[in-house]
Amino acid sequence: MRKPLMAGNWKMFKTPAETQAFFEKFLPLVEKSTHCEILICPPFVNLAAAAAATAGSGVGVGGQNLYWAPEGAFTGEISAPMLKAAGCRSVIIGHSERRQFFGETDETVAKKTKAALAAGLQPVVCVGEMLDERESGQTNAVLERQFRGGLGSLTPQEFAQVVIAYEPVWAIGTGRTATPEIAADAHKFLREQVRGSFPDSAAGVRILYGGSVKPDNIKGLMAQPDIDGALVGGASLEAISFASIVNF
Ligand code: PGA
Repeated sequence: MRKPLMAGNWKMFKTPAETQAFFEKFLPLVEKSTHCEILICPPFVNLAAAAAATAGSGVGVGGQNLYWAPEGAFTGEISAPMLKAAGCRSVIIGHSERRQFFGETDETVAKKTKAALAAGLQPVVCVGEMLDERESGQTNAVLERQFRGGLGSLTPQEFAQVVIAYEPVWAIGTGRTATPEIAADAHKFLREQVRGSFPDSAAGVRILYGGSVKPDNIKGLMAQPDIDGALVGGASLEAISFASIVNF
């Protein structure tokens, strides 16, 4: 009943011309891939190129961040209505790089999630523990805190639109993927959190795994019952590699 979502997070990579070249190669490779939803989140300056390239294809485009006010004197920021107008379907919120390098907190995640929902964007909200937190046995406590702080104040109707991405920080960009079993445990724990706070969404909410997802490990991850897709960084930059993840 949960349709997988395969999402690419391009981070700070590619120009508009490179974006167009990616889709020329990528779209034919996923033309028949109706088993999942596909989303690409490029840097803001590539949204127009991505929206134009994907028009009519079923492949969605998303932002990587947003600011919660709809407009105003906030130099350098981009709002949810702007993303929507630029052709976005979704937006990543609370990625660990934003938490680590740009001061993102559970409180700002909550504000951004509400702003995204108000503009009709699907929030892809990231949670995940750091290595020292895992090694000191705090994984579940961290996930619970991030879940409650970022998503706990939504209404059930709002929560029903949300996608969660579990991204253990120690697995991002390191080549060190969580084993399918480690990921499955965290996903199961997160779904229990959803069951506690938003019981009607527990069966339907999609929980993506992210962190060094590659063509050769996606199958094992997707075989886990609570893993409903992937949020892919490095391996989404290259058309053949991301297409083989999509078509796992
Ligand atoms: P990675 O990044 O696939 O390059 O590890 C994942 C992410 O940060 O979303």
